[in-house]
Amino acid sequence: MSASEITPTKCLRDEHEIILGMIDCFEPALTQAESGEISNEDLLSFLDFFRGFADMCHHCKEEDQLFPTLEKQGIPRNGGPIGVMLQEHSVARRLTQSMSEKLDAHIAGDATAMEYFIDQGRQYIDLMRGHIGKENPILFGMADQVVHGEALDSLTKAYEEAASGDDYCETMKRCMATADRFLEIYNVQRADCQPPN
Ligand SMILES: [Fe+2]
Ligand SMILES: [Fe+2]
Repeated sequence: MSASEITPTKCLRDEHEIILGMIDCFEPALTQAESGEISNEDLLSFLDFFRGFADMCHHCKEEDQLFPTLEKQGIPRNGGPIGVMLQEHSVARRLTQSMSEKLDAHIAGDATAMEYFIDQGRQYIDLMRGHIGKENPILFGMADQVVHGEALDSLTKAYEEAASGDDYCETMKRCMATADRFLEIYNVQRADCQPPN
């Protein structure tokens, strides 16, 4: 990326496109799950992506790097968009944890678990579409206005450090392979679905 293209939110916005692409795949996958037309392994792969890419890699960069930078620039943590985003991240974590438990129960033979899994999956889809629909224009819009100069340099370095850990790299590689596979299977195309830096 050239210096002129660096913004406080470019890598996060690119990740949003990949997450939304996978959400667009998950929606028909849940319809298939209603009639048992998708394998447990594929449903486990969706969950691995949402927990690994969306939460561990993406939400953690927002919470550990972007949001603290915004607080230093005078945007308060509570009573505004940062607080709303944090609250939605925790709802997303609860939903993926619960979906994981329901899928395990289904695999173990619980006849009612899949119905709950599908319901929670649809809640997760609505949550993430709404979350990204607010985060891009509102919070990232603010970030692009207030983070410049040294603050932008430090944030860019912090993103690079976060992305250099072994766990992060391994998770990103695995999840991008999952996304490539499902985007093709479900014929979902989104702009800027490039692997983030
Ligand atoms: Fe977020
Ligand atoms: Fe986000």
